[in-house]
Amino acid sequence: MDMIHVYQEGKNPAAPTLVLLHGTGGNEHDLLGLGAMISPESALLSVRGKVLENGMPRFFRRLAEGVFDEEDLVLRTAELQAFLDAAAAEYGLDRSNMVAVGYSNGANIAASLIFHEQESFRGAVLHHPMVPRRGLQLPALGGMPVFIGAGANDRICPPHETEELTELLRGAGAEVDVHWENYGHQLTGTEARAAADWFKRTF
Ligand code: MLT
Repeated sequence: MDMIHVYQEGKNPAAPTLVLLHGTGGNEHDLLGLGAMISPESALLSVRGKVLENGMPRFFRRLAEGVFDEEDLVLRTAELQAFLDAAAAEYGLDRSNMVAVGYSNGANIAASLIFHEQESFRGAVLHHPMVPRRGLQLPALGGMPVFIGAGANDRICPPHETEELTELLRGAGAEVDVHWENYGHQLTGTEARAAADWFKRTF
């Protein structure tokens, strides 16, 4: 349990636990409101990334904007997986009933977990994600529902990244819904509502 986090018990133990993963410079408090909006009945497990970039928390190191430190990414992905297993045991949660909700760097570590681990998440809400790694054989995703929120003018996570990630996930058997906004990298209210609607339809 060596990751700083907030845990909020859910109202309905059958609802998926939301694993909340913030963007660069954020923390474990940022996405609690988003989580409560997406699934008001769910337990929330909100984690702070362990890497610091000029004092800003992240989930893994990068060499430059958009250029990931792959070695660190692999290590941090395994570390997050171990934390989720431990948190499930600690809080009495069903490890197979966790849905990731990540924004930007947090969406990227969620996507990395899906790419690397056979037992990752039951589903995922990825706000402005990128392709975490290339050249990997993904595990069979067996219909895993994934919502991707993207911005047509997002210069940090440009549209071709969204399209490539969608194809990679679909190629491994995920059911991917992509929601486009005409904005940049920000997570807008309409995108958050679209994620909440998708969640209601899906779980
Ligand atoms: C990343 O480094 O994960 C992406 O560039 C998104 C971000 O700015 O955090």
